[in-house]
Formats: sequence, C-alpha cells, structure tokens
Amino acid sequence: MSTVQGRLRIAVQKSGRLADRSLELIRDAGLKWVKGHNDLLYRVENYPIDLLRVRDDDIPTFVADGVCDLGIVGENVLEEDKNGGATAEVVMPLGFGRCTLKLAVPPTLAYEGPHSLQGLRIATSYPKILRRFLNDNGVQSDTVVMRGAVEVAPRLKLASAICDLVSTGATLEANGLIAKETVFESQAVLIKSPTGPEPELAHLLESIIERMAGVVSSQG
Ligand code: PRP
Ligand code: ZN
Ligand code: MG
Repeated sequence: MSTVQGRLRIAVQKSGRLADRSLELIRDAGLKWVKGHNDLLYRVENYPIDLLRVRDDDIPTFVADGVCDLGIVGENVLEEDKNGGATAEVVMPLGFGRCTLKLAVPPTLAYEGPHSLQGLRIATSYPKILRRFLNDNGVQSDTVVMRGAVEVAPRLKLASAICDLVSTGATLEANGLIAKETVFESQAVLIKSPTGPEPELAHLLESIIERMAGVVSSQG
C-alpha cells in the first residue's frame, strides 16, 4: 500500500457487525465520503481523510503500526490481538457493537462450572482470551481455533464446548447450545495510533475525535 501524504486514514470494518454503525458515526461526525474505484478506500470529500475498509482482525495492527491514524474495532478483536508489541491506544468506547464472548455447551454436557471443561476440547476464534480465562480458573483444556462457524463444532464432534461471541443469542439457540460463562464483554471502541499523524494533520485528528465524542455522548 502506498503512503498517501497529507491525508488521515481511518480503518473501518468492511463488512460485519460493526460496518454500518462505524460509517454512521463517521457521517454523523460530519465527514462526507465517496466510494472509490476500489472497494478498499473511500475518499472523504470535505476533509483530507480516507476511510480504509478492511477485515476487523486487521484493524489493530494497521493502527498500531501507524498505517491508519484512527480505527473503529470491537474490544474483543483488540484484546485478542494484544501481543506485547506496539499497541493502538483506546480513545473511547462508542456505545454500539455490544456483544459478549461466552462459553457454551450442548445440553448433554453436565456443566457445574469451569472445572467441568477440564481435559475437554473447546472451539473458539479467540484462543488467547479463552486461554487466559482457563488459566484464571485453573482448567487445562485443548482449544481448536476456528475462523468461523464455531457453533457447529460440537455437532461435528470437533469440540465438546465453544467459546464464541453472543449478541442476540440466536446463533446459540439455533445450534442447541447453552451459554454458561461470560469470558469477555465487548463493544466498539475508537482507537488511535501511538505514532501520531504528520504534524500538519494533528489538529484535524483532534477535531475529528472531538466530533465523534460529541456524537457518542449525544446518543447517551
Ligand atoms: C458472531 C458469532 C456468531 C454470531 C452470534 O459472529 O461468531 O456467529 O456473531 O450473534 P447472535 O448471538 O446475534 O446470533 P460475528 O458476525 O460477530 O463475527 P465473525 O463473522 O467474525 O464470526
Ligand atoms: Zn472478524
Ligand atoms: Mg460468526
């Protein structure tokens, strides 16, 4: 990716649970964008800003590395991405995209607490957050990392339990799984790069953050 000089970049999820609300927040903060000829970049017309539309999992890295100045991402993704290297700074919670990472089991598993998972396999897309929970509870379990469709793992006998995001609960219910433990609570957050933008863009960056804060507080 070539560095476009003199423009801020905001990383947003291209598609998924945060995509629409992220663009709404940016619009409500007064930015007007036009879709480019490629899907990756939306160009803001009324400010020197571009919106970079990417996979949510890539957003923490882009912002930590300064490829993007700001990003909108779920705390779940941010937490799982923590690796001891450069990290994006959380500016503020955004009040949308609320979901909970939960441990869930089929009704056939006699669950009395985390120790019931001892020695079993658990499917998840969040191995680090799950590992921490298991360690905190003194439980040794194997994890199977799945990128998606985690909820089918018990039926396929890939795992005895799952640890996955729940928002409405419809996915768990449709798959006959019962939530047992809350592992991590999440919502969308605004993150910013630790490196900061080019000096001439610093004021614009601060004013965009202030406008977003205004939008978020007006939504209570
Ligand atoms: C999550 C999770 C479930 C679904 C649960 O996926 O993996 O599939 O949402 O939501 P529900 O409780 O409302 O049914 P999500 O689309 O957030 O992310 P992913 O595509 O990265 O798995
Ligand atoms: Zn994702
Ligand atoms: Mg999913």
